[in-house]
This record gives sequence, structure tokens and C-alpha cells, in this order.
Amino acid sequence: MEDDCRVRGLVQETDLTPDRLKELLALARHLKSARLRLAEQPLLAGKTIALLFAKSSTRTRSAFEVAALGQGAQVSYFGPGTSHLGVHESAVDTAMVLGRMYDGIAYRGPDHHTVERLARHSGVPVWNALTPPWHPTQALADMLTIKEHCAKPWADICLTYVGDGRSNVANSLRIAGALLGMTVRVVAPASMSGSPEMRDQVERICARTGGGAQESDDIDEGVRDADFVYADTWIHLGEPVESWRPRVAALAPYRIDHQVLAATKNPQVRFLHCMPAVHDTSTSIGAAVLAETGREGAEVTTDVFRGPASLVLDQAENRMHAIKALLVSDLAAQPHTT
Ligand code: CP
Repeated sequence: MEDDCRVRGLVQETDLTPDRLKELLALARHLKSARLRLAEQPLLAGKTIALLFAKSSTRTRSAFEVAALGQGAQVSYFGPGTSHLGVHESAVDTAMVLGRMYDGIAYRGPDHHTVERLARHSGVPVWNALTPPWHPTQALADMLTIKEHCAKPWADICLTYVGDGRSNVANSLRIAGALLGMTVRVVAPASMSGSPEMRDQVERICARTGGGAQESDDIDEGVRDADFVYADTWIHLGEPVESWRPRVAALAPYRIDHQVLAATKNPQVRFLHCMPAVHDTSTSIGAAVLAETGREGAEVTTDVFRGPASLVLDQAENRMHAIKALLVSDLAAQPHTT
């Protein structure tokens, strides 16, 4: 039997309780305020963090690095193909070695079992920086952003995620929303709805917290009265066109434009996107989408993405504050004030 030396960290939202999630959000707000007041204290001085990234990243890597730097910690970044993990060395062996040198490990990669093994065998906190089924640090930042822009209590807030309902972001939003007692709707083509296991987990949490969860393939019905409409990329990094072509075709009616925001009937509705977004033709993927579909952008139009309802840059910045809360909560030697 494998030893289980797991200490605190965040592998997936189901690791959290409602109280722990609220505590992390409060700490993130406190740390954000301290940074804005130029009053940040280096609570992680002398700490070391390994960033094991088997997939590329802009926001998540920056967020971990800047958060650690701001708190006085050092990071080592292992980009794709730059460690032995999974090639010459198992996740268990890597975990045990890195746990002797680092105070915490962040992992991003294609295999969720890897982050679970790192968490189980390293003896230090492990944070999931994105795996196929979960993106917990994203949802943490999203909930921070939602609370900053909506004065309602969690129980009165409705978020509608539109896109592939099987995605890691959809899963993390479902569980985080359920823990907070809010309503999370997922609008997806029937062929891309969430798994029955996920629905069961969400229902069990909602029964305790009073949260609401709905799944639908009807976008007009799904966005009605929503406070937030959320989109995610339809195309995975490095995915060949043959692989994404049928998915993008099936998702075409689910693109977020002004009509979709108007269908909420909520003039205060805000738009969220975890980024990177395919909203124009300035990237190679955007150009390929134009060639395949004749449309500029995929999951969202540029006028919505850059428009007055959009909170995408606040979300991106909040990745850093949210991740900093995790690092401080899990690693700080001295008490912190929330
Ligand atoms: N949202 C997100 O995870 O962005 P990166 O892929 O740039 O880290």
C-alpha cells in the first residue's frame, strides 16, 4: 500500500469545505488590499516553491511567480520537457525528491493522477495549476472577482457557464459555486454535458449549502436573469484542427455575443472568461477558426470580450491574489490576518 503523507494544498475543489473556501477568499481580499496599499508583508521569506508545468501557461505561471516573489519566497520553474517527471522518473519518486527540497509544489499537466501522487507522496502542500478535470486556482480567482463586482449574498448570485460542460473550468465552477451556496448553470450541447458523477457531487453539496445547479442545452433559458455569463476556450493547446473541428461546429450556437448578454434581461450582467480567448484572428488558432468556420473568433466576440461588461482582466489579475492566499495559508510560519 502507498503511504499517504498528504498535507494541505489544493488538488481539486472537492478538497475544500465551504468555510475553507470562504477563508481563502477573505485572505485573498486582505492580501490584495495590502499589496495595493504597498503594505505587503513577506510572510513566506525563506520558502521555496517548485512549479512543475508540463503544459504552457501565461496567467497561472505568472500568478505563482509574482505571488511568491511578493511574499518573499523563491520559485523554480520546470517548463514542459525540462524535468524527468513521467519520462525517466515516476511521479512518486519525483514527489519524494522535491519534497526534500521545496516547501510546496504546483503542478500543471495532462494527467490528474500525477498531481494526486505528488500530493500524496511529497509531504508538502501541492496545488493543482490545471489538469484535465480540474482548474481550482482559476475558480478561486473567479469567485474573488464575482464577489468584488456583485454586492448580493452568495445565495442570490447566478453564474451561467456556456461552452463545453465537461471542461475543467466548468467542473471547478460547479463545485466552488455549490460550496458557496450560489447558483451555477451550465449551458452546453447535450453531447458535452457534465458527467453523472459530477452532477451527484454537486447535488450533494447543494443539499448542504442551499446552492443551485442547473444543466441545459438551451442558451436563452440558461442565461436568463444571470448575473455573470462565463465562457472558456473551445480549443485546447496544441490540438490539431481535425480534433477541434467537430467540437467547434457543435458549439457554434453557444458563442457569447451582445444578443446573448441581452437575453439575460439583466442590464448589470458581467462577462467572465478564464483566458486565453479566441475572439479575433490575431493568433494562429484565431486564423484557423476563420478559415474553418468563416467566423472571427470562436467562443466570444471581440466586442463582448473587450466591452464594458467584461471583467476578464480583473479575473486574470485575481489569479495572483487568489494563488497568494493559497501559498500564505499553506506555508506562512506566522499567523496572517484575514
Ligand atoms: N486561465 C489560465 O489558466 O491561463 P494560463 O493557461 O495562461 O495559465
